[in-house]
Amino acid sequence: MPMANELFNWLYRDLEDQASAILEPASFNYYRSGATKERTLARSRDSWAKYDFIPRIPVERKMVSSRSQFCTVDLAAPIYVAPMAFQSLLNSGAESKFALAANLVNVPYCLSSRTTTPINEVAEVAADPVEQKRLFGQLSGFHKYMLEHFWEKDKASPNSSKLFFQVYFMAEQEVTFQLAQEAKSSGFSLLFLTVDTPVLGMRLSDLKMGFVPPEGYADKLYDRLVAQGRQSSFNSSGEVPFQPKSRDNALNQDPAIGLGATKLLKDRVDLPVATKGVISQADLAIAIAHGAEGVVVSNHGGRQLDDTIVTANTLWGLWDNFDPFRVSVDGGISNGADVVKALCMGAGSVGIGRNAAWAFASGGAPGVAAYLIEVRIEIEYAMTLLGAGSVSELDRSYITPRMMP
Ligand SMILES: Cc1cc2nc3c(=O)[nH]c(=O)nc-3n(C[C@H](O)[C@H](O)[C@H](O)COP(=O)(O)O)c2cc1C
Repeated sequence: MPMANELFNWLYRDLEDQASAILEPASFNYYRSGATKERTLARSRDSWAKYDFIPRIPVERKMVSSRSQFCTVDLAAPIYVAPMAFQSLLNSGAESKFALAANLVNVPYCLSSRTTTPINEVAEVAADPVEQKRLFGQLSGFHKYMLEHFWEKDKASPNSSKLFFQVYFMAEQEVTFQLAQEAKSSGFSLLFLTVDTPVLGMRLSDLKMGFVPPEGYADKLYDRLVAQGRQSSFNSSGEVPFQPKSRDNALNQDPAIGLGATKLLKDRVDLPVATKGVISQADLAIAIAHGAEGVVVSNHGGRQLDDTIVTANTLWGLWDNFDPFRVSVDGGISNGADVVKALCMGAGSVGIGRNAAWAFASGGAPGVAAYLIEVRIEIEYAMTLLGAGSVSELDRSYITPRMMP
């Protein structure tokens, strides 16, 4: 049986403080920071705690299942790791080890276009049975015991997804299409097209600290395309040579990109697309009309327009009557109870960003695996104590905005 001192070793540590003690200050700040006065960032942090549960007592209790779906893909649990750029800043294992840890727990990992690791390498390491076995061996007895419990349950979702790929439309679209194609051929099952970054939010603290992003995989791909383009113009193969704009310009996000870009992407890469960064419910129908399967309700972790409404209040106050499997949400989620509140508000799944990153920074792959196991445990606890047997049973009748301070 698990030892009491091994329980919830990660979920209730101050992971952000631990990461700040370990990371180089400008790297830590890049992960921590938000736009301008960071008011949306600050509000996001405790926004989910401002909703209270209203447990129900079912006539008969059933075994809880937290299986879910997002767009066309099955989820063994209603969570995934949100896309975050430049993970070599967090831990030397970078994107490969982060994805390995999430996948061990049957939690999908969304790889950012700003990955520092080649896309196929991330897919290979994440699915490597030797790496998985080694990582399992590094977990505590409690986490092993609980993970085996989840593996047994997850046999009911044999087709659950493991890898998503986030797309930024670069000003040089060929780079974008190549990245997304590589993701498809490496087995990624869903694209997140980020639509909330026509310009990068004003992260003043990063500017003050002189943060310079590391070289990403897109830079290397760009160089390769340039070299191939040069060759093709000499070898008269008939191919149109790649004619890049300036390097910096080519790798910046295209400011013209909006919901209509979904079709452009789908015409080139045959994978389902979710548009990430939607706030108004009116944009859900427009996104779907342009070919998206669903949307991620997100304010980009408070990193774009400061004073944008936090996503808990967005779902509670502005959204109603939508298909949960078309709507996911992220922003300020730190534990399983937060996840269940988002499901009660109608989302079918939830992205976890910084908190997973802090676990990865301070504990590497075993840290993030243990953290995600604990989140999964807490989701099942909260559902059991709420009296709901499945994600589809959760609705607004189980929560209320806090009535008294
Ligand atoms: C350091 C950092 C890098 C990010 N990079 C990306 C990215 O490359 N693409 C993207 O769509 N979102 C990116 N995001 C936004 C996250 O995907 C997600 O929307 C947000 O972090 C969720 O909030 P949380 O961190 O409070 O969980 C990034 C967020 C952080 C903190």
